[in-house]
Amino acid sequence: MSYIEQIDKTRIPQHVAIIMDGNGRWAKQRGKERTYGHQAGAETVQKITEDAARLGIKYLTLYTFSTENWNRPQDEVAALMNLLLDSIEEETLMKNNIRFGIIGDFNKLPMEVQKSLTLCMEHTAKNTGMSLILALSYSSRWEITEAVRQIAIQVKTGEISSEQITDELIASHLSTNFMPDPDLLIRTGGEIRLSNYLLWQCAYSELYFCDTFWPDFDKEEFYKAIYEYQQRERRFGKTSEQIS
Ligand code: IPE
Ligand code: IPE
Ligand code: MG
Repeated sequence: MSYIEQIDKTRIPQHVAIIMDGNGRWAKQRGKERTYGHQAGAETVQKITEDAARLGIKYLTLYTFSTENWNRPQDEVAALMNLLLDSIEEETLMKNNIRFGIIGDFNKLPMEVQKSLTLCMEHTAKNTGMSLILALSYSSRWEITEAVRQIAIQVKTGEISSEQITDELIASHLSTNFMPDPDLLIRTGGEIRLSNYLLWQCAYSELYFCDTFWPDFDKEEFYKAIYEYQQRERRFGKTSEQIS
C-alpha cells in the first residue's frame, strides 16, 4: 500500500522545510561531475513542489544554497547560480497557483539572478495556493545576527526599550516572519545535522532524516516522511495526558 493512502489528509503539515542534500554524491556514484547531480536535483524540486501543493501544504521552504556554500569551488558556485536561472519555471508555479519567495542574503546573489527571481516573485505574488520559498545565501546565524543588529538600533534610538525584546519581537525580525514555524523538517542525503538552517524556527519541529540522495527523493519518500510525522506526538513541553 502506498503511503499516500495512509496519510491523514486532515492533518497535513502547514509548513515543511527541506534540506536537499546529496546531489554531489549522487553524481559521483554515476561517475559524473557534481553539477550533473545539481541538475538532477533541480528536477526533484519541480516534482516535490507540485506534490506538496497538491497535498495542501501551505509553505515549502527549500534549503537551496547556504552562506557556507559560497566557499565551494568557484565553478560549482557558478553552475548553481546558472541553474537557478534555468530551473525556476514560472509556468509550473502559475499552473499550480504557487507563490514564489526567497529568504537569505539576496544582495549577495549575482545581479542577473536577483532580477530573474524578483520577476518571478512579482508575477506569482497574487497566487493564493502554496508558498514556495527558496533559502538562498541563507544561514540561521546570518539571519539571527541581522535581527540582533536591527533590534539594537531600535533600542539605541529609543524606539523600543530592552524590556520589549520578546520571543515574538525576535521572530518578527527574522526573514521567515510571514510564515509559521516548520512543522516538519526533512533532510535527505544521510547526514544527521541542521547545517545552519532555520535554527530558531525549528525549536519544536519534527525532524526526519533519510539516506536517499536528493535526486532520488520521490513522491513515495515524501509521503513516507509526512506519514511518519503524523505518527509523532507533538507535546511542546506538556505531558501526553495534557495533549489528549
Ligand atoms: C546539496 O547537495 C545541494 C547544495 C548544497 C547546493 P550537495 O552538493 O551538498 O551534495 P553532497 O552532499 O556533496 O552529496
Ligand atoms: C546544506 O548542505 C546546504 C544545502 C542543502 C543548501 P551542505 O552539503 O552544504 O551541508 P554540510 O556541509 O554537509 O553540512
Ligand atoms: Mg551536501
